[in-house]
Amino acid sequence: MAAQPDVISLDLVSHSSLHTERLGERLGRSARPNDVFALWGELGAGKTVLARGIAAGLGIDPTEISSPTFIIQREHRGGRMSMFHIDLYRLEGADLTSTGWEESLEAGGVTVIEWPDRAGEALPDDRVDVRLEQIADTKRRVVVAATGRRSAPIVEELRNSVAGA
Ligand SMILES: Nc1ncnc2c1ncn2[C@@H]1O[C@H](COP(=O)(O)OP(=O)(O)O)[C@@H](O)[C@H]1O
Ligand SMILES: [Mg+2]
Repeated sequence: MAAQPDVISLDLVSHSSLHTERLGERLGRSARPNDVFALWGELGAGKTVLARGIAAGLGIDPTEISSPTFIIQREHRGGRMSMFHIDLYRLEGADLTSTGWEESLEAGGVTVIEWPDRAGEALPDDRVDVRLEQIADTKRRVVVAATGRRSAPIVEELRNSVAGA
């Protein structure tokens, strides 16, 4: 049997929200059409901060990115491609299948999903997982992992740029 390829992942510590935003920016710069980022972590972990960075990396005005209150999906334009910012926090039960947010996955932009645990079956197999965990007031553990061939180069590029930083 062929050896399993190395799992492509990166375990980092962010010391400020600016630091987290810059990490997101690097991810956004490497992204191609239909790439998906799943942002995992509790409230206040920094998912939206990271999403803002991804937007910046796509050339989108990062100040446009907010925590949508009752809006599950927003499309942000003005960059080299659209960013679909999906926040599934308020999604429960039957709502899951009726919002149509999954259509953004194939729309030729980049999809960034907060609370991906609520996406169920619709969560793509090949994606970049970013797990954010608060370890102190302004310190976050950030684990970035690729789950397939499509997402692998994004994490490889981040790994190389962090190593060279
Ligand atoms: N290292 C850090 N990375 C990200 N956010 C941080 C960091 N340190 C402090 N923060 C703060 O934590 C909060 C994260 O909020 P937000 O990104 O909206 O969280 P989430 O979307 O995960 O609920 C912001 O107020 C941000 O300024
Ligand atoms: Mg958020």
